[in-house]
Amino acid sequence: MTGSVESVAGGPILVVRDLRRSFGGIKAADGVNLEVRRKEIVGLIGPNGSGKSTLFNLVSGAINPEGGEILFNGRDIAGWKPHRVARAGLARTFQIPALFDNMSVMENLLSAAAEGHWNGARGRAEEVLRLLRIEAVRDNRAVDLSGGQQKLLEFGRAMMREAPLVLLDEVTAGVHLNIRSIILDAVARLRDSGTTFFLIEHDMELVKNVCDRIIVMDAGQVITTGRFDEIATNSEVMQAYLGRRAEVSP
Ligand SMILES: Nc1ncnc2c1ncn2[C@@H]1O[C@H](COP(=O)(O)OP(=O)(O)OP(=O)(O)O)[C@@H](O)[C@H]1O
Ligand SMILES: [Mg+2]
Repeated sequence: MTGSVESVAGGPILVVRDLRRSFGGIKAADGVNLEVRRKEIVGLIGPNGSGKSTLFNLVSGAINPEGGEILFNGRDIAGWKPHRVARAGLARTFQIPALFDNMSVMENLLSAAAEGHWNGARGRAEEVLRLLRIEAVRDNRAVDLSGGQQKLLEFGRAMMREAPLVLLDEVTAGVHLNIRSIILDAVARLRDSGTTFFLIEHDMELVKNVCDRIIVMDAGQVITTGRFDEIATNSEVMQAYLGRRAEVSP
């Protein structure tokens, strides 16, 4: 891996080594190496199709790697089924919310708890409804929510798991500013209570304000990592974003 991984945060909670996965002729993960340390908020950026969601799919067990290691809390979880990765303490959101359309908001939250630990699930669901300000729609079916409310619920389902590591795939994309700030407040609160976040984000303002460290992918590989000011002035990053330079301006 190029770049530095030093950080004020703790030791690594996630280490990925030489991770590989192709789709036909496309090397979506072409030897990915990275680390996420405990209590960090790490941003994952890169142009469309650079392999960000594929990395999350590999780490969370949604797809299998063809090679490499994924160490979560020191255990190699590469190739584990999603429910087993989830039980080991990893929660994720999907780029397109993966909700139970015909179940209520409350039922969607409770079903997420069932994938992890059930103790105190009702109380946790009440807390999540309150924090995400979706109490008023608690009995509405997920399919009847607005796009922004669906994003909140997708995030709420991850919160229900009380997982030490949370992967967020563009959780604020396309949402209204007030929903974005509800999500960011919740991220800050969970981080204060010890949660580690690894998040894919296209909004550079958000990346700049929220992330302790940023990992940049291009064409299935990590090209650099560093603080926002470091990566924003990195010529390789500029090159990867050529044509979209305005988005990386500090
Ligand atoms: N299930 C799949 N089947 C075939 N090709 C896939 C599959 N998943 C991803 N790919 C391909 O792998 C590459 C990486 O895709 P991925 O979704 O990981 O990119 P991304 O960085 O998340 O992009 P975006 O910013 O647009 O979400 C792309 O070329 C994509 O078309
Ligand atoms: Mg993606």
